[in-house]
Amino acid sequence: MFWYHTSTKHSYNSVRTNPNRLSWEDQPGTYKNYPGLYAKYKLDLENKEDNLLYHIAGLTAKKTYPGGEYYLRINPSAGALYPNELYFQSRGVEGRKDGIYHYEVSSSSLTLLQKITEDEGLEPYFGYKTAMRGYLFLISAIYYRSSWKYKDRAFRYCLLDAGHLLGSIEASALLKPHAVQMVYTIEREKLNRMFGFEDREWFLSGCSMAVPVHGQEVSALEFELPYVDGSGTFEKNPLIEQAYHETLTMQACRRGIKAPKFTYQTMKLKETIFTRRSQRGFNEGAITKGQFNYIMDAIYQPVLSDCDEEVSVYIVVNRVLDMPLGLYWDGKYIEYGDFARKAGYLSLEQYSLSQQGAVAFFLTSKGKNYQALYQKAGIIGHRLYVASLYMSIGCSGIGAYYDDEVNAFVGNDEMVLYALAIGK
Ligand SMILES: Cc1cc2nc3c(=O)[nH]c(=O)nc-3n(C[C@H](O)[C@H](O)[C@H](O)COP(=O)(O)O)c2cc1C
Repeated sequence: MFWYHTSTKHSYNSVRTNPNRLSWEDQPGTYKNYPGLYAKYKLDLENKEDNLLYHIAGLTAKKTYPGGEYYLRINPSAGALYPNELYFQSRGVEGRKDGIYHYEVSSSSLTLLQKITEDEGLEPYFGYKTAMRGYLFLISAIYYRSSWKYKDRAFRYCLLDAGHLLGSIEASALLKPHAVQMVYTIEREKLNRMFGFEDREWFLSGCSMAVPVHGQEVSALEFELPYVDGSGTFEKNPLIEQAYHETLTMQACRRGIKAPKFTYQTMKLKETIFTRRSQRGFNEGAITKGQFNYIMDAIYQPVLSDCDEEVSVYIVVNRVLDMPLGLYWDGKYIEYGDFARKAGYLSLEQYSLSQQGAVAFFLTSKGKNYQALYQKAGIIGHRLYVASLYMSIGCSGIGAYYDDEVNAFVGNDEMVLYALAIGK
């Protein structure tokens, strides 16, 4: 097991002997804004292309609390800390200048960071020799936004949240509709330098929503962007830095070449994406077997990717009409029984989610490519949100769980990556 994963496990004792105290005066910001000297384009939601981008990462709700207010987004995030940033190259997209852009969430606009030409672009950093018409997305993490709260465990959340953003791109692309391919073997170190990230922000993955332009070869564009602060405050975390740098080298990647098939109706999907929220607790409502099967079909669809790691999905059935209670994996029951309370306990005693929900999920992997396998867990998690909410069933991601006790419960010694619950 990867040493970073082992050293960031939660246990019943660790969360009690290591209470997490937050220094509110150091709270980082959640928005990165490039200075005004760059050209910025406000998203026009009437424009089809802008609308697609908005449905990946836009702001959708405002929450007020006694000390202030904050905004929620299309994509979920552990603790609403939003460590990820979204960049993309746009080539040959109607109404948009070819170039490399940053999605500025706070103002719903696009910042043009760098122009590209017909024969130069980001394609070679993605492993493409020819020009790609459409979008090449890049997802980064500004890890302090998350490590401020979650300390060493934050790298896990940066990856899960990044996976959710990849899932969000996948869902938004269905509105077009367009196939997306995850690209983990992007030249991350080189790109980090070119984007001026200075080890405070790192690229985690790429995603292509583009088609090759046959016969148009491109070479790698070189540029140097200045560092732009994306968190306000910062405290170095050596453990996370080591974990990131050690997981840059990919080994024995297997391509995922089968495209997923989803059966969403476009207008209903759009509404689902726009209104997505995490459910704050379930009321012990049941779901039907038909709904359960529909959701399972969506999450088990293959992921198109250049490094497809195996992720196991363990399922605790608490309240699905006409289905026996029990622990279930890969379409088969491992053990019959009422494990609702156990699932609630394992999710760091968040009983209102995993116990009171209809179904609880635990995702594990024994893969070798940590960044790729963790982001895949986020993609599956995002599919679970979208498919459940499409069926008017609530969903919540659960990043906190007792790692070793989950292993003992499901009966494997893989890395436990993520828990989720759905229900009513
Ligand atoms: C990786 C991840 C882990 C999460 N873990 C928890 C959790 O342990 N408990 C919980 O109540 N919510 C959890 N959430 C839900 C977030 O709190 C929620 O996404 C965030 O507050 C934004 O709200 P929204 O999803 O409604 O937009 C998690 C979400 C993600 C993406």
